[in-house]
Parts: sequence; structure tokens; C-alpha cells
Amino acid sequence: MSGKFITIEGTEGAGKSTNLSSIEKVLNDFDISYIVTREPGGTAVGEELRSVLLKNESINISGQTELLLMFASRMQHINDVIKPALKLNKWVICDRFTDASYAYQGYGRQLNLSFISSLENLVHPDLQPDLTLILDVPVNIAMGRVYNRGNLDRFEQEDVAFFNRVRAGYKEIAKNNIDRCREIDASKDLVEVQAEVMQIIRDFCKKQSNS
Ligand code: TMP
Repeated sequence: MSGKFITIEGTEGAGKSTNLSSIEKVLNDFDISYIVTREPGGTAVGEELRSVLLKNESINISGQTELLLMFASRMQHINDVIKPALKLNKWVICDRFTDASYAYQGYGRQLNLSFISSLENLVHPDLQPDLTLILDVPVNIAMGRVYNRGNLDRFEQEDVAFFNRVRAGYKEIAKNNIDRCREIDASKDLVEVQAEVMQIIRDFCKKQSNS
């Protein structure tokens, strides 16, 4: 069985971290060897870029710069972490990937989508996730969860209109990539959401072991 690449996406407050644990549980049950990583981040330089990108102090970062920093982090991450793991037949579970650049910089910041797709073709012409879970939550619920956590990062300080565009972006991505993406209603009870996530991962694992 070759390594598979699974990504998890959604607006802040959608419950990615909790559901990441559900994914890990299933992979452990199937005795699959995997790594868990994240973007921006996942390498030493990527984590440095992450702290610049998320820092909630008011430094001016334009939308284009933000996008290029996301892809700079991604380039290093793909070369140093994702591809080597997949080559060793490990599965890679990644907390956000290029869909987030489309959703946040493309739809949220309203940058040109074709500019993002040029960067995608430059940075990873030969790599796409095998499965993407998109956790969908109405913005008022998601932001309520985020505000409860306190200490907002640079993205979390954006307004409701921004997050509505990001959410609509993810919905568009899910609609245009039905073979790869599964949209999950993450406003439901957490136990129900976790059960749905685990079922999707179980089905995916079974499909891989049958192929
Ligand atoms: P999170 O991993 O804790 O959700 O924080 C990462 C933040 O970075 C989140 O607000 C989404 C944002 N982001 C982008 O805007 N574009 C990207 O390409 C990626 C990977 C993340």
C-alpha cells in the first residue's frame, strides 16, 4: 500500500484539532503508519513563517505577500516532509494545505484565483491530497467558539464578512472537487461529527486495502 495524503480544512472554530484525533484513531486501528503535520508550518522555516503570519501585532502584510509566504512554507514542507513520508509509504495527515490558500487568500482576501493556481502549478504540479475533509460551520457558531478561546491571532481578528467569504470558498472547492473532498456539517454535536469523520476515514482505508 502506498502512502496517502489526507488534508483537513475549515474555518477557525470548525473543530479541526479534535477531528484530527479521530482520524488518528482510525489509522491506528488499521495499523497504518502516518505522520501528522500542518500548514503554514511543518518545518523549521515553515514554523518561523507561521509565527510571522499569525502574529497578532499590527505589522502590515499585504494579501499577495501573505499568499507567497504560505507557498514558501508549503514548498519547504512538501520537499522536506510530505514527499519523503509518502515515499516511505507513510500516510500524511495535514492540517490545511493549498485549499486554504484558495479559501483564505482567494475568497477571503479576494486575490485572483488564477494567480493562486499558477503558484500551485509551480510549487506542487505533481501532488494533490487523496482525500480532503472540509469541516463546515456557520460563521456565527465558529466565531463564538474562537472568541471563547481568547487571544486571537491575525486571521481570527478578521471580520464576519471575511469568514463568510472563506466559508463560501470552501463550499465552492468542495463542490468542484467531489471526488477528493468530503464536506462535513461540523455544527452538529461533536460526537456525531467525530463519528462521521471516523466513518469516512474507515471507508477510505478499506478502499485502499482493497485496491
Ligand atoms: P490554524 O492552522 O490554527 O487554523 O491557523 C492557520 C491560519 O492560517 C488559519 O487562519 C488559516 C490561515 N491559512 C491561510 O490563510 N492560507 C493558507 O494557505 C494556510 C495553509 C493557512
